[in-house]
Amino acid sequence: MRTMLFPAALAAAVVILMLAVEDGGGVEAAIGLQQPLKLKYQYYRRHTTCKYAEAFVRHQVTLYWNRDKTITAKLLRLLYSDCFVTGCDASILLDGPESEKTAPQNARLGGFDLIDRIKKVMEIRCPGVVSCADILNLATRDAVHLAGGPSYPLFTGRRDGMTSKASTVDLPSASISSKAALAYFESKTLDVLDMATLLGAHAIGTTDCSNVVDRLYNFNNTGKPDPTMSQHFADQLRKTCPRPTNMKGTQSKNPWVYLNPDSGPSYQLGNSYYKRALAHQSVLGVDQQLLYNNDTRELTDEYADEYPWKNGFEGWRRSLALSMNRMGNIDVLTDNSTGEIRRNCRYTN
Ligand SMILES: *[C@@H]1O[C@H](CO)[C@@H](O)[C@H](O)[C@H]1NC(C)=O
Ligand SMILES: *[C@@H]1O[C@H](CO)[C@@H](O)[C@H](O)[C@H]1NC(C)=O
Ligand SMILES: *[C@@H]1O[C@H](CO)[C@@H](O)[C@H](O)[C@H]1NC(C)=O
Repeated sequence: MRTMLFPAALAAAVVILMLAVEDGGGVEAAIGLQQPLKLKYQYYRRHTTCKYAEAFVRHQVTLYWNRDKTITAKLLRLLYSDCFVTGCDASILLDGPESEKTAPQNARLGGFDLIDRIKKVMEIRCPGVVSCADILNLATRDAVHLAGGPSYPLFTGRRDGMTSKASTVDLPSASISSKAALAYFESKTLDVLDMATLLGAHAIGTTDCSNVVDRLYNFNNTGKPDPTMSQHFADQLRKTCPRPTNMKGTQSKNPWVYLNPDSGPSYQLGNSYYKRALAHQSVLGVDQQLLYNNDTRELTDEYADEYPWKNGFEGWRRSLALSMNRMGNIDVLTDNSTGEIRRNCRYTN
């Protein structure tokens, strides 16, 4: 049951996209309801000589996942860091002294090794055809599925950007207010449904204490803890994340916490993330802020399955399929003149 807050066209797109998962048809038309789409469904199979590109990616991601389940959270963050900054152009993958990956917000990114490995396979199987931007999007899709998320069709045909500058990185603080977070998403052509849904990626993964200590000791420069966090949970977190001033003596330590202690080392996507928000037990401020916007609050109730007549976690899985395609569509490059197919994801050709 979709609620009033979604435009009718968008709701229709969700439904048609879901049907398309089964029959593989009508997908372009469905997404076309929202905006002209430059990407194509099954681009590699239908429009290139690299018919099995998606299968090659899935195989490599599965091999990696079998050894290291932290890869899903890493790829989700890598993709977000790429798409929200100058679009899904693989600019986050470029090496260089002033590249995006050198920005402070990107200090703890991972997953580059898997992308390199997939690219190596692609350059052997079908040289010069599959872009790094598509590899990142496809690999993330497959890793999400392995972690208990949905499986969904992904539009492809991106080309890789030729520049990457740390100065363009505008990723916001983890303690951002719901209002500022929504403004940020909207500035990237996404909406409140995308925000509430994509944040569910924080059901897995870890974060440095540096992203949490302000909430525990000096929220928004008030000298007090974040009033939206349960006292009991704050007490618990303080044991792992000491006051920054107390960390000086223990310099080699770089304490971290699970973004969602309920999922923790299982690395399974689930709706405990939304349940924790309702219980005021979110780790990051931006996650707790889901309760402070009427639309995201309603979606949080829905995804947490607090009401039997709502969509519950299945609703989240369906929305994620749509929102991942919408995020993957931000400022994509599809022209010869603006983008290339990199031979090595770390360098322009
Ligand atoms: C922090 O304070 C500023 C100024 O009072 C306010 O605009 C902002 O929304 C606050 N941030 C949060 C996360 O509450
Ligand atoms: C949010 O919901 C509350 C309570 O139902 C209402 O008073 C308020 O006006 C709503 N805010 C917006 C921006 O719609
Ligand atoms: C891309 O550029 C090459 C020449 O460099 C040209 O042969 C090819 O047709 C172009 N492809 C597209 C899709 O425009």
